Amino acid sequence: MKFFVDTADIGEIRELAAAGVVDGVTTNPSLIAKAGRPIREVIKEICEAIKGPVSAEVTATEFGGMVAEGEQLAGIAPNVAIKVPSTWDGFRACRALSESGLKVNVTLCFSANQALLAAKAGAGYISPFVGRLDDIGLDGMEVVREIRAMYNNDESFNTEILASSIRTPLHVTQAAMAGADIATVPPGVLRSLSNHPLTERGLASFLADWGRSGQAIL
Ligand code: E4P
Repeated sequence: MKFFVDTADIGEIRELAAAGVVDGVTTNPSLIAKAGRPIREVIKEICEAIKGPVSAEVTATEFGGMVAEGEQLAGIAPNVAIKVPSTWDGFRACRALSESGLKVNVTLCFSANQALLAAKAGAGYISPFVGRLDDIGLDGMEVVREIRAMYNNDESFNTEILASSIRTPLHVTQAAMAGADIATVPPGVLRSLSNHPLTERGLASFLADWGRSGQAIL
C-alpha cells in the first residue's frame, strides 16, 4: 500500500518526503485555506517537492465550472491530480477530464455505489472517507472492503482505492488489510506509525547495557 500525506503544509511534506515515506499528497479546500496562501502557489510548491501525484480539488459545483477549474489546476504541474466530488456533475466532470488525459481523484465518497460510478467515469482514484463514516456511527472500513470486492469483480476498472479521512494508526493497518491501494494519512498519524512502547523500552535497556560495556562502534 502506498502512502499519500494529507496536508497542504509544505514544511511537513518536505520532512516526511526526506524520510522516504511519501508517495503522493492530497489536499482539499479546507487544508488549502488552513495553509493561508493562494492555491496555485501552494500546489506548485508541493508538486516541485514531490514526484508523485498531488491532488488539488475543484470548488465549482456544476459540470462546466468543474471542468474549467480542473483544467486550470492541471496546468500548474504535470503531477497534479484533479479532485472532484462524488456528485452527478462530479462524475460527468471526471469522465470529461479523464478523457482529456488528466488523472482524476473522485473524493467525498461514502458508499460503494458512488465508487462504482467513479470507476465507470474513468477515475484514477476513488477516495472513501473512512473517519467521517465512523464519526456518524457507521463502519467506514467496511465501505473500503466493499469497493475492493466490487473492483476485483470487474477487470475493466482501472481505479485505485485511496483510503481517506484516516484518523488513527489502526485505520492504516485496516486499510492495508482491506486491500486499499493507497492511504492518505495526516502527518501526525503517519509519524505515529513508528511508535511502540516496547521499542522505546527495548532501546533504553540496550543503550544502558551498551553504556556499561564501555564500548563504542566509531
Ligand atoms: C482526502 O483527500 C481528504 O483530504 C481527507 O482525507 C479528509 O479527512 P478528514 O475527514 O479528517 O478531514
